[in-house]
Amino acid sequence: MKKLIGTAIIALLAGAGISAAADAKAGQAAYDKSCKSCHGADGTANAAMAKMFKVEMKGLGSAEVQTLSTAELKKIITEGKGKMKASTGVTGPAVDDVIAHVRSLKK
Ligand code: HEC
Repeated sequence: MKKLIGTAIIALLAGAGISAAADAKAGQAAYDKSCKSCHGADGTANAAMAKMFKVEMKGLGSAEVQTLSTAELKKIITEGKGKMKASTGVTGPAVDDVIAHVRSLKK
């Protein structure tokens, strides 16, 4: 019985650890630092940037971006996509935090 309770507590702690792993608040700070200049505070692309890159930048809150899987978003952030270079300022767990923030931009 004691062993069972111990296992349950470990499982609970592990569960809490998973939910704390992606921190939208920390993600916002990282986003403001590494993404906002191009993607805007609320995910609406900076028009001057889009013009400079000569590319259509989808709003990060748009359905097109929000339907991307977490793996796809991760790939864009860590490897870049088209005209966007990989983000060197956001690595490791911060990538999940930023994705959590991007999810919060959903319109
Ligand atoms: C220097 C400007 C710049 C920065 C900084 C930047 N991006 Fe981008 N991002 C772009 C451009 C330009 C595109 C469009 C790429 C293309 O389609 O060629 C893009 C595309 C995207 C897309 C795919 C949506 C689309 O328009 O196709 C996502 C998601 C995205 N960026 C997320 C991020 C996140 C998250 C960060 C911060 C970690 C970030 N970007 C930092 C310029 C930037």
